[in-house]
Amino acid sequence: MSIPISKPFFTGGEGAAVAAAVESGWVSQGPRVREFEEVFARRVGAADAVAVTSCTTALQLALYVTGVRPGDEVIVPSLSFIATANAVWQCGATPVFADIDPRTYNLDPAATERAITPRTRAIMPVHQVGLPAEMDAFLELGERYDVAIVEDAACAIGASYKGRPVGSLSPMACFSLHPRKVITTGEGGMIAVQDPAVAAQLRFLRQHAMDVSDLARHSATDVVIESYPERGWNYRMTDMQAALGLCQMDALDEILERRTRLAARYTEALAEMPALHAPYDPPHSERTWQSYSVRVDARSPISRTDLMRRLLADGIATRRGVMAIHQEASYAREGGFDLPHTDAAAADVLMIPLYAGLTDDEQDYVVERLAVHSNAMAVAA
Ligand SMILES: Cc1ncc(COP(=O)(O)O)c(C=O)c1O
Repeated sequence: MSIPISKPFFTGGEGAAVAAAVESGWVSQGPRVREFEEVFARRVGAADAVAVTSCTTALQLALYVTGVRPGDEVIVPSLSFIATANAVWQCGATPVFADIDPRTYNLDPAATERAITPRTRAIMPVHQVGLPAEMDAFLELGERYDVAIVEDAACAIGASYKGRPVGSLSPMACFSLHPRKVITTGEGGMIAVQDPAVAAQLRFLRQHAMDVSDLARHSATDVVIESYPERGWNYRMTDMQAALGLCQMDALDEILERRTRLAARYTEALAEMPALHAPYDPPHSERTWQSYSVRVDARSPISRTDLMRRLLADGIATRRGVMAIHQEASYAREGGFDLPHTDAAAADVLMIPLYAGLTDDEQDYVVERLAVHSNAMAVAA
């Protein structure tokens, strides 16, 4: 068998939907983009949603409209994909790394509070692999210290925190539509936003800070001469992407159900493997299971990477767990960082295949190979 780490889930109508966008002649920033934004906003409980080219550009734009500028600091987890920190850097600001909660792998509110300085402009909690961060604590910190909260919800479409959907929790949450995420448009991002004035500002900045949108110009009854009162970016989504996104929104509930069922099967199987630990699942959150992380017990004599090698030889793709940004040369600093929980999680965790189209037979094979290798570990221990 050959089992990838991840695969997008398509139901069959996507090709025709994308072709219809092409045939309509309106291929960028047209009616399908607007419809996708409306459907997305409704689904995540936001007042509005603004489509862009990726979650990275979404984060950068969200930080920018929050007022993050050179000289400011933004607190982020180091245990995240590097785009989390890059988006801060792209605003000319400094990412400040705070440690994680070792159970959830999400940014720890207490460590975050310790990292606040007079230069802190924003806190960026990440809903890591689709598990909501402790948003009540972050919103409270934001109020108390007068700093903004911008959510990195790259993996979290469909997740909810204490019964509230991610996308409805704070002024702005940024989602990814990359193929490794829960739903995809090939590449793409979405900013869920509560304040209509902020949504208008985001739309303006994503289109070169032009004061007339394509949609408005198209329906104008007089000549429109646009102007550019500020500087902006080109972060426009195409209508082919939006057409695909609309199909994916129709499939979202099925995708989430399938992922949740498969995750429960893994968790049950891992209970029998003493050298491996299933992810902690807080009762007050519904996660997306964008990835399934397995922690290799610290007492095991065989490393996480050796386990990954053995699985690869069996035809099973795995990935290391979420990276630690501060360990990369691009973010290293003299004297290092004091992030013990982040360092431990980056060393011990691997991701195993989980996607909506994974069959029970394929999953049983993954479980069987995990049991063989991890029992060898347990015996060796
Ligand atoms: C937590 C997190 N933030 C941001 C990103 C960047 O998303 P995109 O590839 O859409 O820019 C990712 C993607 O892997 C991610 O996992």
